[in-house]
Amino acid sequence: MTRKKIIFIAGARPNFVKVAPLISEIKRFRRFNYILVHTGQHYNFEMSRVFFQDLEIPKPDYDLGVGSGSHAWQTGKIMIEFEKVCLKEKPHLVIVVGDVNSTLACSLVAVKLDIPVAHVEAGLRSFDREMPEEINRVVTDSVSSILFTHSEEANRNLIKEGISRKKIFFVGNVMIDTLLESKVKSQKSRILERLKLKKEQYAVLTLHRPSNVDKKNTLENLLRTFKIISQKIPIIFPAHPRTAKQIRKFHLNSKFHIPDSRFQIISPLGYLDMLYLVTNSKFVMTDSGGIQEETTILGVPCLTLRKNTERPVTVTHGTNTVVGINSKRITSEVKKILSNNRNYRKRPKLWDGRTAGRIVRILDKVK
Ligand code: UD1
Repeated sequence: MTRKKIIFIAGARPNFVKVAPLISEIKRFRRFNYILVHTGQHYNFEMSRVFFQDLEIPKPDYDLGVGSGSHAWQTGKIMIEFEKVCLKEKPHLVIVVGDVNSTLACSLVAVKLDIPVAHVEAGLRSFDREMPEEINRVVTDSVSSILFTHSEEANRNLIKEGISRKKIFFVGNVMIDTLLESKVKSQKSRILERLKLKKEQYAVLTLHRPSNVDKKNTLENLLRTFKIISQKIPIIFPAHPRTAKQIRKFHLNSKFHIPDSRFQIISPLGYLDMLYLVTNSKFVMTDSGGIQEETTILGVPCLTLRKNTERPVTVTHGTNTVVGINSKRITSEVKKILSNNRNYRKRPKLWDGRTAGRIVRILDKVK
């Protein structure tokens, strides 16, 4: 019997965390041949290679080395390079994860070559078409033959869009497989000593959405808000390269006297250090999608610095509050967290560390 040949796509930081458990499960299952393609959307050591090390992801079979550019340039370049891989390898299936430009580009290439696409993390919707990721999600889902979802809302979103129920598989959250698998390993992290922090006596901040960092006024107002909050509790801010670049471009470093021991802007962290840092923090402020989910499982309060979330289950079940970017609202939510103990939460259904196993068993059954 010939083994099914599957290509996995990973291009940007959040993708690595999602492909790691899928690859380790597929290797264990021994019924598929797999190929890992790294598009090169993210390429700095701390945005890419450290995740391969921390999560023991095998070296990619292809590195397309695409790098940064405008959306059209990046998506187009990935498509051109990935088409060559598909023509050479002739896979039976392409698996894409998440909602980054690499996800969209590779799905389009595959479907146009008549290769079925499976989308892991299908059905998330912020209903905000100004978010580049929302376009990536809608298009990827519409061309996928197999849609793996992580929540009931995602199922409902897909059904409302007319996607056949037969294509939808509710399997849970693959990123939580990685988190639960890595918790023990992360205990070895020395990040708190390195940053001179004490457990639950600091907050973590991440910020990289274009809507928050690409306009000077917005970024400046946010930094001012964080500076005020840092008088109450120290803030650690592992800054995405895009954000670091914008802070330099708008000359905001000197304005906020950064670095400052109560408001430390540092380079992006690897997976295990970040997991340990977040686990032991008092709370997190973020505009990332994945961190809303991780804090839900860790039971760490999360303030989401956006006007919406495509992950409402983190609000209904988890520790997430969507606060937007208004300074008064953010500081008042921080006050509430500082005066209360950690909030209790329910674990969303199937966020149990066994999602990759479910996915691989389904892949084995579907024609
Ligand atoms: C991308 C995803 C976003 C995801 C984020 C996680 C899209 C549309 N966006 O956003 O959904 O939340 O990744 O990090 O796919 N850069 C570097 N080194 C790198 C990578 C990026 O310096 O290794 C800088 C470059 O200046 C680049 C900028 O960051 O222009 C933006 O990178 P890009 O991949 O276009 O989007 P992200 O903002 O990282």
